[in-house]
Amino acid sequence: MLIKYEIGFPDNFITDTNNRTEQYVGNNLTCTNCHAGAGLDENSSSLVGMTAVYPQYIERSGSIVTIEERINGCKVRSMNGKKFEANSDELESIVSYFKNISEDIPVGEDMPWRMKNSMDDVPVPSVDTVYE
Ligand code: HEC
Repeated sequence: MLIKYEIGFPDNFITDTNNRTEQYVGNNLTCTNCHAGAGLDENSSSLVGMTAVYPQYIERSGSIVTIEERINGCKVRSMNGKKFEANSDELESIVSYFKNISEDIPVGEDMPWRMKNSMDDVPVPSVDTVYE
């Protein structure tokens, strides 16, 4: 775990997304399925530090993306669901959780635990590899 979450493992929209927000999730996943340990696991697309890096320019979108829009990006693409409405309790709760777990991360800090889930990181098995 990247940091110790003082209040204990959060029972919130991150760990219980599909049950808490059923109408917004299309595939029965929770954020934790991909962002392990409620986003605290450094080997699985940790979400620690998010409020220190967003808003951020995203090439795919060709624009500056807010943290709310990025969360909704995962809702739509990764969870086959619908966007949370602006200023909704769901979105605000997730953002405030990000703020809590990002508290000690200065803006602009290099965060080696980011982007650990991209397909580029998946090792390609080589047919030439010799196993001993
Ligand atoms: C099916 C897998 C999957 C699910 C479910 C998922 N995500 Fe993601 N998410 C990803 C991937 C892949 C990335 C790209 C970052 C990476 O490669 O590490 C990402 C990126 C993000 C980012 C930006 C990370 C960064 O470093 O810029 C945020 C914020 C985020 N997700 C929030 C959420 C939230 C909140 C939920 C639940 C509502 C969620 N995600 C559900 C796979 C998922």
